Amino acid sequence: MASFNEKTIYELNDEYSIILIEDFNNHLKIELYQNQILTYDVLLNDHQCSTITHKLCETKAELYNLLCDLLITMKSSISVTNSRYLEILLPIYFGHEKTRTKVWIFKIEFQRFLFIDDKKMDEISLDPLDWTEIRSLGHQIMDDMINYLSDIRLRPAWRPMPPIVRKAIAQTDIPLKGQSPFEVYDEVCSLVLPYSVGNNHPHFWGYVQGTGSLIGAFAEFITGTMNTMSWGGHQASIYIERQILSWLKVLMNFPNDDTSSGLLVSGTSVATIIAMAVARKKFCNRTMKVYCSKEAHSCLIRAIDLLNIGKENIISISTNSERQIDLKALEAALDPYSCGFIVGSAGTVATGAIDDLKGLANICARRPNDLWFHIDGAIGAVARCSKRLRPLFNGFEHADSIAFDLHKWLFVPYECGCILIRHGELHKSTFSQPAASYLTLMDGGITPSEGEVFFSDYGLELSRNMKSLKVWMTLKTYGIEKFGQIMEQNVDQAKHFVRLIEQYSNQFEVLTTGPLNIVCFRCIVSRSHVIDLEILNKLNKQMLITIQERGTAVVSPIAIDHNKFGLRMCITNHRTKMSDIDKFMEQLSQLADELLNLPEYSCLLN
Ligand SMILES: Cc1ncc(COP(=O)(O)O)c(C=O)c1O
Repeated sequence: MASFNEKTIYELNDEYSIILIEDFNNHLKIELYQNQILTYDVLLNDHQCSTITHKLCETKAELYNLLCDLLITMKSSISVTNSRYLEILLPIYFGHEKTRTKVWIFKIEFQRFLFIDDKKMDEISLDPLDWTEIRSLGHQIMDDMINYLSDIRLRPAWRPMPPIVRKAIAQTDIPLKGQSPFEVYDEVCSLVLPYSVGNNHPHFWGYVQGTGSLIGAFAEFITGTMNTMSWGGHQASIYIERQILSWLKVLMNFPNDDTSSGLLVSGTSVATIIAMAVARKKFCNRTMKVYCSKEAHSCLIRAIDLLNIGKENIISISTNSERQIDLKALEAALDPYSCGFIVGSAGTVATGAIDDLKGLANICARRPNDLWFHIDGAIGAVARCSKRLRPLFNGFEHADSIAFDLHKWLFVPYECGCILIRHGELHKSTFSQPAASYLTLMDGGITPSEGEVFFSDYGLELSRNMKSLKVWMTLKTYGIEKFGQIMEQNVDQAKHFVRLIEQYSNQFEVLTTGPLNIVCFRCIVSRSHVIDLEILNKLNKQMLITIQERGTAVVSPIAIDHNKFGLRMCITNHRTKMSDIDKFMEQLSQLADELLNLPEYSCLLN
């Protein structure tokens, strides 16, 4: 057997030869010579030798010995493929029968050999010394992630994190020295992956959370790899974002030209802050009151707070029986002496109610210099993808600003929202600042002063990631029509659930539902006699927690008319099937029986 420190030249064929050596860093080094010129090499440690050979050789000495043996006895089993890979192919016989043969194949990938002087060897980088090993980790992660999604139905909708897992995460100090990325990934698999909030699952119907998509996940990997800073300038990311904004303007029936503007942001909360800041700029220093229905989302209050508009300037308007803003009440409340930021909800978070957007637009049109018409389309705006649902959203064409999410019903992976503003110049003047000297625009190059858009002039962030690629790949891969169909499917599933609850009316009741994908319901005991609301609320809370903790499904809590605790189902999910809804109803019914048998709820039955 050859000694590990020997240097022998092995000719593989007329063109290639290799040398196996132990390198000064205690690696096994394999050099590949092409026509006697060193063209590629690779350094392998024990771990890499084990990975590459699929654990056939546990150490570099074992791989060295195996290669030496093969090169002496069975040279033909080693070949150079694609001039970068050394492919080793060996039949393994086990047992006595010759038929029981297994062919073991593994590849060793080389790096192009560069002459590096000793000084440069001391320089460090985060890149791997050897890309072969990290490639195998990358392939492993890709496979695992695809399985993670394809097997999602086999797992519970949600599972609590056991204390031992939380402890394992909390226990570690800031790492001083690095560890193997394989080990780190092992920790991801055991500590992180199983414990998401569950929104990819077909039975996730809580809050308003999108289900993402595999294509979106691929886009995130590409985005992370490109790692391009997307503040602006001459680069693909900016052109893609411009194109997406143009598509979204068309989808929202907004002027698709340079008079209007837009920006991809983290979500509707940030989009709302931007819209309010631009409106305030328009109204100079005059008082601006914010008018919205009492069903409007709390992100408005945060924006008012942050922009120092003053909570006394929030005017909460009552709603009608459809939970839409009451237009008459709004008109009566409008202050003729101050400016107004009028909010229309295109899908309220509690019930999915859509305000009369045309009616709001008409009111704003009467005082265009004083009133700004803003649409909160976080949930519903993208439902304009569906021809059937689009008429619900008439009035978008009159908005001064529209804030909406792509990470909800458009299934772009978190985070991604959008703000569109009708007044592009005003938008830019709200956020742009005189360029610091290091951001000076040039006559050409990456930052030309002519022709390029600098998105950092339109929002809060200078450093921005490339949100555009995941939107672009998602829209191109699936197309608007498919999204429209999925949204219609979700709306039909919600309507089906309402019908099911009506069939189980001795156990359940619908509290509210709207024109979209949201149903609020609760378990009841009897319609015929007065029941203790406090205990009924407790029962419903227990029901919600049990559904989640058993991993059956995820629905979220809601208070209807202030004091009725309800369960809220919002189907923003391309994986949900009608049969999932049927099964859930059966599980709800069984759970209701089970809970009502508990002593603390039995009084409800008397
Ligand atoms: C109606 C409405 N507006 C605004 C928001 C805030 O959006 P984001 O969480 O994307 O910031 C939400 C979130 O669910 C919402 O439902």
